[in-house]
Order: sequence, then C-alpha cells, then structure tokens
Amino acid sequence: MAKIQQSFVCQSCGAVYNRWRGRCEACNGWNTIVEETGATGPQTGPASTRPSRARGRVFPLEGLTGQAREAPRVPSGIAELDRVTGGGFVRGSVILIGGDPGIGKSTLLMQASAAMAGKGERVAYISGEEAVAQVRLRAERLGLADRAVELAAETNVEDIVETLSQGRPPALAIIDSIQTMWTETVESAPGTVTQVRGSAQALIRFAKTTGTAVILVGHVTKDGQIAGPRVVEHMVDAVASFEGDQGHHFRILRAMKNRFGPTDEIGVFEMTGAGLAEVPNPSALFLAGRDHAAPGTAVFAGMEGTRPLLVEIQALVAPSSLGMPRRAVVGWDPSRLAMVLAVLEAHGGIRLGTHDVYLTIAGGLRVAEPAADLAVAAALVSSLSGTALPAETVYFGEIGLSGAIRPVSQGAARLKEAQKLGFARAMTPQGRGEDGKQAIATETLRHIADLVAGIAADGPRRRVAGGGRGARREPEPD
Ligand code: TYD
Ligand code: MG
Repeated sequence: MAKIQQSFVCQSCGAVYNRWRGRCEACNGWNTIVEETGATGPQTGPASTRPSRARGRVFPLEGLTGQAREAPRVPSGIAELDRVTGGGFVRGSVILIGGDPGIGKSTLLMQASAAMAGKGERVAYISGEEAVAQVRLRAERLGLADRAVELAAETNVEDIVETLSQGRPPALAIIDSIQTMWTETVESAPGTVTQVRGSAQALIRFAKTTGTAVILVGHVTKDGQIAGPRVVEHMVDAVASFEGDQGHHFRILRAMKNRFGPTDEIGVFEMTGAGLAEVPNPSALFLAGRDHAAPGTAVFAGMEGTRPLLVEIQALVAPSSLGMPRRAVVGWDPSRLAMVLAVLEAHGGIRLGTHDVYLTIAGGLRVAEPAADLAVAAALVSSLSGTALPAETVYFGEIGLSGAIRPVSQGAARLKEAQKLGFARAMTPQGRGEDGKQAIATETLRHIADLVAGIAADGPRRRVAGGGRGARREPEPD
C-alpha cells in the first residue's frame, strides 16, 4: 500500500520540512508552515509514461528549423504592454503579472485579450475569481463585448488544459488568478503553495508543448511580494508587476524578470472611466500641474529602461519642534535621502539637523535611480533657502559621499527629452554623453558646493516672501 506522505511546507517560500516548526528557516517567516499531504512537489508528474527515447536528446543551437524561428512573438497591439514584454508575447512563454487587488490587472488583461482577438488570434480568458457574466459585464463596460475572446470561469487546471487543447491552440491564454487554481495531481488544499506550484507547472507544460503564451495573474501580499508563489517566480519566463497608487490615475507595468527581453522597461497607463489608456508621453503627465514659482521643487531628468522620464521632485524643509527631526519620503529610498542630507551637511555647508525633511516624487511615481541625487539635493536646498529654482531647468547626477557630482548613463537621451518638453537648461555632471550638439544649455557641476552656491546666487532675484531662513554660509553673489 502506498504510504501517504506528510510534509510541512512554508506557504511563503515553498521550503519543505518533515516536521512542523514556528518559523521558516529559509525565509524567516513566522507561522508560514502548513501541513500538506503528498507534498513531495509537482515533479511527481507522468514521468513514467514518457517515451524513454526522448530522454536526454540534444539539439544543435544553429540547426533551428524554420518552424521554430517563425513569428516567435505575438504583439498584443497595446504598445505600452509590448514595450514591457520586449515586443510582444513570446510563443510558449509564461508571464506572471502581480499587483495589489483592484489595481487593474483584470482590466489590463481583458483589454490585451480583446486587442489580440481583434487581430484574429485565438485568445482565452480563464477567470477563477469572477463568473463569466461578471467578466462579460466588465468587457461591456470597456466597450469590448463584441470581441471574440473565449471566456471561462474554471479553477481546475486539468479541465482548463483539456478545453484549451481543443482545436487550434490559443495564441494567448490568461489565468486570473494562479492562486485560485488547483490540480488533481496534488492532494493539498487549493491556495497552498504546493497547489499553486503544481498548477503553475501544469500550465507551463501546456504553454511549452502548444506554443500558447500564458499569463498568470498573481496576488501580492501586504509586504509587496507576489503571495505564496515566490516559488512560481523562478518557474516562469517573465515576471511583471502592475503598480500604482489608489489615489492617482496612472498605473505602471514594470518588468522584473524577463528571459526574452529587457527588465528595466516600464509601460505607463492611465485608469479612465473606459479602462486603461496608454500614456505614450509620461513626462508630460508627471509634470502636469507643476507650480513653477514654488521653492522646493526640482525637475529630474530620469530614465526608465530606454525611456527618458521627467518627474518633479518636491521637498519641504521646515524647522522642527522635535528632538529627533522627521524625515518622510514617498517614492524614493529613505536611506538615499539620509545620504544626500549628510553630504549636504558635510560638504555643502548646509545645516539640516534641526529641520524636518519631507520628500516626495510628484504623481506617486517611484524613482530608484541614483541619478536623482542632484535633483533631490537641489529641491532640498531650494526649500531650505526659500529660493525657487529656475523653472526651465532640469537636473540629473549622482552624488558621491565626497560631495562630488558623478556622471550617469544616457545623458544625451535625458537632455533630448528635456529639450522636447521645452526645458532650456540642464544642470549635469561632467562627462554626460559626449554629444555636444544639444540645443539645450548645460551647466556642469563638479561638486555639491557648486549647486548650493548656484542656488544661493539665484536667491536674491527669485526669493519669495518669507523665505531665506536657515541657509548657512550663503556665498555672496558676485
Ligand atoms: P480590476 O481590473 O478588477 O483589478 P484587479 O484585477 O487588479 O483586482 O480593476 C478594478 C478597479 O479598476 C476598480 O477599482 C475600478 C477600476 N476601473 C475603472 O476605473 N475603470 C474601468 O473602466 C474599469 C473596468 C475598472
Ligand atoms: Mg482581478
């Protein structure tokens, strides 16, 4: 008689133990370990039924047949989505898309399905969360109800594979969401790591054998990880996250892993009453409603992948009544802010120790580039001194601990975008893209002290009423 195997599986990272424990040693999660039956992993597939001749076969790299080469990608027809995938869905690839509930994953994927179906491809949308009528209602609301997308409300992976295998294999199949799926080959309860992994494995096998591109929707936990299926992340070909702030309209699709394309590209969308609209020129969106005359704002010429993106950085520096002044950051790395503050104090002659500092990236965007240091420093100095920065100027450059402004990549692309949006001047580090033929005036800054001196020199002309508190050792304008 087959012995039923008991094992204890961490629901967060998938580590397997032979007895229960309170804390997972692999991911340090508390209370994440749950008893599962027959949880030896989904590898217990139909290995014995495989023809043994196929085992260990090798193929020459250069000898790919024409069939394997033709139309490897299917563009979705949504340019911002194709940018993130690297030019369309690769046939037979599996993409995991994670995001907070209500951010718009189902909406985006319904629109992508409809766009592809509109081009004559077979597309299936499998919902494990909503009934077919609900999915259809959403499509109606999006004005897509006339598209030939095949809808199903199903959670059993074997049934799904069976249905999809009938007739011509679909070009795209959407599984919304992987956490609701269950497979008969695994005995654990639906929603457990083992089930999620087993279901994903079955769907991946389906994708690889039929050439259907499969998109798995994954929920995100409170701490921002794609829940449970961290284990799925390494099985799939690409992982993208759909981000955004409930308080703002725009949404960003960000590639985090991509076996067939770049990982630093973003797609920008705007949530409207009629679904997600593409934003082909995000800089204009992020700079809209800018208050040019206010001290404490600087425009950063950033890059997201190959795309330049201009964003406004806002700082507020105010005298603190607390023994330990507050530092609050939205959209940027707090430890990076601490570093810029320290460098400003040590090498810029600015005292911020008794001031609260608030920093935000306007529009709710998240910036991860060190190139934003210079714009952050400019916004901070501007707020502290009450001096508005010149409205037509952009900033970029990394600040070193010595106070030196260090060069960053893709200077020419940043300047070009700034010029396109009507900016006339850029404060840059030395040695940014040796182009030389920019129509935009550039001013090279070598040291943080140059920045502070420049803003202070601008001060008397631009200072607004009530400003000017706090800046120490202001050099006199010459
Ligand atoms: P949904 O795609 O259901 O999110 P997810 O699948 O990520 O959970 O999106 C739901 C949100 O989108 C909901 O708050 C309403 C909003 N929405 C619009 O603003 N306009 C629309 O046309 C649609 C369909 C949804
Ligand atoms: Mg949904």
